[in-house]
Amino acid sequence: MKTVVSGIRSTGNLHLGNYFGALRNFIKMQHENRCFFFIADYHSLTTHPDPALLHVNVKNVLSEYLGSGLDPEVATIYIQSDVPEVAELYLLLNMHTYVGELERTASFKEKIRKHPDNVNAGLLTYPVLMAADILLHRADYVPVGKDQEQHLEMTRRFARRFNNIYGVEYFPESMPYNFGQELVKVPGLDGSGKMGKSEGNGIFLIDSDADIRKKVMRAVTDEGPKEPNSPMSEPVQNIFTILKIVSSPDTVDYFTEKYNTCEIRYGDLKKQLAEDIIKTVAPIRERILEIRSDDAFLAKVVKDGKEKARASADKTVAEVREIMGFKPF
Ligand code: ADP
Ligand code: TRP
Repeated sequence: MKTVVSGIRSTGNLHLGNYFGALRNFIKMQHENRCFFFIADYHSLTTHPDPALLHVNVKNVLSEYLGSGLDPEVATIYIQSDVPEVAELYLLLNMHTYVGELERTASFKEKIRKHPDNVNAGLLTYPVLMAADILLHRADYVPVGKDQEQHLEMTRRFARRFNNIYGVEYFPESMPYNFGQELVKVPGLDGSGKMGKSEGNGIFLIDSDADIRKKVMRAVTDEGPKEPNSPMSEPVQNIFTILKIVSSPDTVDYFTEKYNTCEIRYGDLKKQLAEDIIKTVAPIRERILEIRSDDAFLAKVVKDGKEKARASADKTVAEVREIMGFKPF
């Protein structure tokens, strides 16, 4: 049995990128493995969220996890800040992490560029906290989207370094996971780049059918192919990328053929895409709305998750302390 760990920051509602990049993979694995899925609320603090919204965000993400099909009977679902052991492991890992390597991280460089007024130390050490999340349960697999590849590489480097320094084989090589396939990048429908909360281009699991139709119909396209079999522009490729994720192979073949013969009508393509997204999202949304109002159920999931996660975390931190030379008097 393998150990699987993943998490999503509680900075807003979950979108198709989170679902197809991370959540769905995890849900497929939860019955055969030892699984931990947490809400990264400590991680959300790098952008200084309003305290009045912190809890609401966590509750929303928890409901969205459960509505998507995470099963608290088989997986451990918990809130990162309910397991303070992660903060201790983060502190210990920080002692063997070099400022230079953190400064070279792509996500850090991008944050500096986008928000030069808020370059806090939490942002710099973000990959160390993420490594602590993963190593806290000594994960074999980490289902994530393509954007997290570098963070996973850093996690493995920190783990190897710890093992080398102390002459142990303690931490495993935690691998990003997507069923033997390439990690997924769900694009936005605004022409370029990935779908993301901060990109303002999300199609959310909580969106109504009407919202989804509106967002998809607004997707950026181009003037259409001028000659048979011409290459697709990036905005059109992005629409096909999402179509491949949510629609049947027949549908994808049909529209690809239409594109290649210059007969495509983007309006028809978008209508089909919207309906196929709705097929995935609508049942999830209905469950989210039901679960979100069931406070007793949510409280029980959080309490059970916290207990199970802390038992695992406590064991790791005790062993790490021993390896590093801490001894009781
Ligand atoms: P966001 O990017 O929306 O702020 P997070 O950074 O918290 O969300 O990402 C949580 C998880 O969702 C990660 O595993 C990440 O790889 C995945 N993810 C986010 N956006 C995408 C996307 N557009 N395509 C694929 N995976 C994604
Ligand atoms: N850094 C991840 C993101 O922004 C979220 C995250 C935090 C995570 N800790 C993790 C993902 C541990 C997987 C495992 O998407």
